[in-house]
Amino acid sequence: MPSVRSPIAHRITRVAQIAAGGLTGRRKTGFFSILFILAAAFGAGTVQAQEHSYAPADIEAGRGLFMGNCSGCHGQNGDQVQGADLSTGRFRRGSSDEDLIRVIRSGISGTSMPPHDFLSVGDTRTVVAFLRSLPTGGAAALADDRDVRVGNAERGAALFSGRGECISCHTVNGTGGLRGPDLSRIGAQRSPGSIEQSILEPGAEVRAGNRYFQVIDSTGSSVQGLLLNQDTHSIQMLDTNESLISFIKSDLREFGFVGSPMPSYQEELTADEVADLVGYLVSLRGENR
Ligand code: HEC
Ligand code: HEC
Repeated sequence: MPSVRSPIAHRITRVAQIAAGGLTGRRKTGFFSILFILAAAFGAGTVQAQEHSYAPADIEAGRGLFMGNCSGCHGQNGDQVQGADLSTGRFRRGSSDEDLIRVIRSGISGTSMPPHDFLSVGDTRTVVAFLRSLPTGGAAALADDRDVRVGNAERGAALFSGRGECISCHTVNGTGGLRGPDLSRIGAQRSPGSIEQSILEPGAEVRAGNRYFQVIDSTGSSVQGLLLNQDTHSIQMLDTNESLISFIKSDLREFGFVGSPMPSYQEELTADEVADLVGYLVSLRGENR
C-alpha cells in the first residue's frame, strides 16, 4: 500500500478508534457524517453499471483489489486524485473496459500512476467492474447539469423544519434526526441540480456511503443501517441508533442493500416549495457551526 495519507485515512482511523473503544456512550457525531466516505467503498452490491452489468461477486472481488492496491492514492471512493476522479463513470484515458484494463496494467508514464501488471487481465476486469459500480457515477453528472430554480432560503428553512418534516430525519447545525445524512454542509458538497434530484427522486442517485443495508436473521427480524465492512464470514454495520453491530453471515437468512428510506416529495410539494428547499439547502455550507 502506498503511504499517501488522505483525509479519508484520518476518518477511517477515527472510526477504527471508535470501534476499538467499544460501544459505551453515544457519540455526538451523526450517524452519517463520520461514515459516508468510509462506507462509500462498500456501496457496490448488486449494480447495473452504465453499459454492462457485472456479477456482484466480480464487483466484490474488484473492490478488494482496489482497496489493497489503489485506494491509497485514489481514495476509497475513487475520487481523491485531482483530474482523475474514478467515480464519475467517465475516464479521460479511454472508455471501454479494455482501455481501462490497459491503463491500469501499464500505468501512465510520466505520472505517479504505476503499472499493475502483477494483476491478471481477469483480476483487472473485476477492478473495472468495481469502478463502474461506484454509484456516484453518471446520474450525478447529469443532475448537475439540469436547470434548477433556486427559491427563497428563508421559506425553505421553515418548510424544512415545519410541514416538510425533513428535520425528523436530517440534522442541520446540530439539530434534527439521524436517519438521514447531516445536511449542514450540503450546499458546499452538492450542486443545486443534484440537491433537487434528491428531493424529487431519492433513489436516483444515492451517494455511495448513504446506501442502506439490511440484514434479516433466521427468526425473520431485520436490522437496517450503514454497511461498515464485510468479509467472507461477517458483516459490521452501524444501525440507525449509531450502534456498531456485527453479524455472522451463516446466522443470517438474507442481507443486502435496500432502497432509500427517504420518501419522494414529487407529489407532496409544489414546484415553488421545492425551489425554496433547494434555496435553503444550497445556503448550508457549514459556516454556522
Ligand atoms: C501511487 C499512486 C497511484 C496508485 C497506487 C494508483 N493510481 Fe491510478 N492514477 C494515479 C494518478 C496520479 C493518476 C492520474 C495520472 C494523470 O495525470 O493522468 C491515475 C490515473 C488512473 C486512471 C486514469 C483515469 C482517467 O480518467 O483516464 C485509472 C483508470 C486509474 N488510475 C486506475 C487505478 C487503479 C485501478 C489502481 C489500482 C490497481 C490505481 N489506479 C493505482 C495514481 C495512482
Ligand atoms: C424518513 C427519513 C427522511 C425524511 C423525512 C427526509 N429524508 Fe432526506 N434522506 C434520508 C436518507 C436516509 C438519505 C440518504 C439516502 C438517499 O440519498 O436517499 C437522504 C438524503 C437526502 C439528501 C441527499 C444528501 C446527500 O448527502 O447526498 C438530501 C438533499 C435530502 N435528503 C433532503 C431532504 C429534504 C429537503 C427533506 C424534506 C422535504 C428530506 N430529505 C426528508 C432520509 C429522509
